[in-house]
Amino acid sequence: MSNLTPEQLAQLALQARQNSYSPYSHYRVGAALMAASGKIYLGCNIENAAYPVSLCAERVAMFKAVSEGERRFSAIAVATDNAGSPCGSCRQVMAEFALEIPVYLVNGRGEVVQTTSVRELLPGAFLPQHLGIDPTQA
Ligand code: THU
Repeated sequence: MSNLTPEQLAQLALQARQNSYSPYSHYRVGAALMAASGKIYLGCNIENAAYPVSLCAERVAMFKAVSEGERRFSAIAVATDNAGSPCGSCRQVMAEFALEIPVYLVNGRGEVVQTTSVRELLPGAFLPQHLGIDPTQA
């Protein structure tokens, strides 16, 4: 896939949300992450009877992508019922590889309600650079 518009990425996040496994919170989340390669990685939240081991949609998408060899990203869309914002843990994981990317917050109708960035969501992030690491080379 090549570069998608924010609206197209939002639709994919909405589709990803359909696979949400969230029988405990009933808060369904989908993410669509665009890599610099043009490939799209989808994620949804996956809850667990042992609540703390549940995983957020954004991190599922990020970990899928990185585990497939991706290190550079160009955008992410996150879809929830109410265009909710990524949690702190997801912000930290996104900052590792994707500090400058736009983050599109999408509502249950697939509308992009807010456009922000990882840097804006996590000011003063602790970064790989602080440890002398370039994540694209690691
Ligand atoms: N959740 C996400 O998937 N992403 C976030 O950034 C915020 C929270 C999920 C975790 C849990 O399954 C549900 O939403 C309610 O917290």
